[in-house]
Amino acid sequence: MKTMGNGRIPLFASLPDSEIVRLLASMKRVSVPEGTLIIQEGVPGDRFYLVIDGQLEVIKALGTQDERFLGNLEPGDGFGEMSLFDPDGLRVASVRARTAANLYEMAHADFHELIHRWPSVTYEIASTLSQRLCTAHNNTICELQEKNRLLAQAYRELQHAQGQIIEKEQNLSYLMAQVLAAQEQERERLSRELHDELGQSLLVLKLQAGNIQEQIDKNPAVAEAECRKMSANLNQLVENVRRLSRDISPAVLQDLGLTSALRHLVHEFAKRHNLQANFKVPPGLEKLFAREAQINIYRIFQESLTNISKHARASSLTVAVTRKAGMVSFLLVDNGKGFQLEEVFGREPTDRGMGLGTMEERVRMMGGILEIKSQKGRGTEISFSVPIRKNDQVVPK
Ligand SMILES: Nc1ncnc2c1ncn2[C@@H]1O[C@H](COP(=O)(O)OP(=O)(O)O)[C@@H](O)[C@H]1O
Ligand SMILES: [Mg+2]
Repeated sequence: MKTMGNGRIPLFASLPDSEIVRLLASMKRVSVPEGTLIIQEGVPGDRFYLVIDGQLEVIKALGTQDERFLGNLEPGDGFGEMSLFDPDGLRVASVRARTAANLYEMAHADFHELIHRWPSVTYEIASTLSQRLCTAHNNTICELQEKNRLLAQAYRELQHAQGQIIEKEQNLSYLMAQVLAAQEQERERLSRELHDELGQSLLVLKLQAGNIQEQIDKNPAVAEAECRKMSANLNQLVENVRRLSRDISPAVLQDLGLTSALRHLVHEFAKRHNLQANFKVPPGLEKLFAREAQINIYRIFQESLTNISKHARASSLTVAVTRKAGMVSFLLVDNGKGFQLEEVFGREPTDRGMGLGTMEERVRMMGGILEIKSQKGRGTEISFSVPIRKNDQVVPK
């Protein structure tokens, strides 16, 4: 009887059947219900066990974060044999009954007696032990290799993340530089406009005034006609000054509030560029944002409209603003010629305009996200969401 259950008893393979029968008869039989912890890692033990039936599992670091399943024990398998040599040694793993099981239990003293009678058993045990040690050693090496691999991977990921952070920082400073450059450009444009347009208009007015002075006595009818022209020019000048001053500092925000300022901006733009405007914006937006955020939103609208006039050749423009869950979403849609995002964003930074980048930066500073959808021939959609009432943004003026 060298078998147990369906298998042999490897540990006692060298014993004659009669001795195995004797041996098994001398061993204590124990029954354990499912889930019983038969030996416990880290606890001393001097018993060796042989599985009669049922299934057991060997577990390392049981109940900790590092818990690992090492293998199953089937009928015929023995465990705890180390304790037969070193009864004070601590168990190196735990064994738990996966199912209800029956076991033979051998005490240290019984084992010594067995060895005296059958030294060949010592050989079997030593060979089993060395095999186990070898497997454990290999497993440890495999685990170490796996841990090394994971470490190397984590290191690579860390490096990658670090690279991304550096890239983001570079992008950020690039965008900040863009914002500053855009401001500079805007100042240049305003100064040019002041010089060219207002300077020119004032010069014309000066000439007209001189003309009127000359004609007023000689030719009152001519003087009167000239007066009318001058008045029309003055109206135009007043309008231009207003527009310029709005551009320099959107004082309209203070005078009208954000909703009305945006309405005014969009309607004026539509009138000037002969566009059909559809404006769906709830009243009182100004109550939802700090002044800095309002300026940002207003500037984003200005840039979007400038882009439409410069690039889109659109015939209609829709502006829709909706509020939900602590956010306000802004949408500007034109039906113009559209563009390919990859093409524009693929351009060298030096060949790329700064409008879209600046808009993105403004939205980012307000804690929101800008989304651009555009397709050639299908118009452009600019949308962004801004969290309500954030009073602490830094804003380029
Ligand atoms: N509404 C639009 N319709 C068509 N093309 C647009 C629109 N807005 C932006 N674009 C395209 O995106 C490019 C980048 O825009 P932007 O960053 O504002 O720079 P710029 O206006 O100075 O060229 C433009 O050159 C244009 O090709
Ligand atoms: Mg632009």
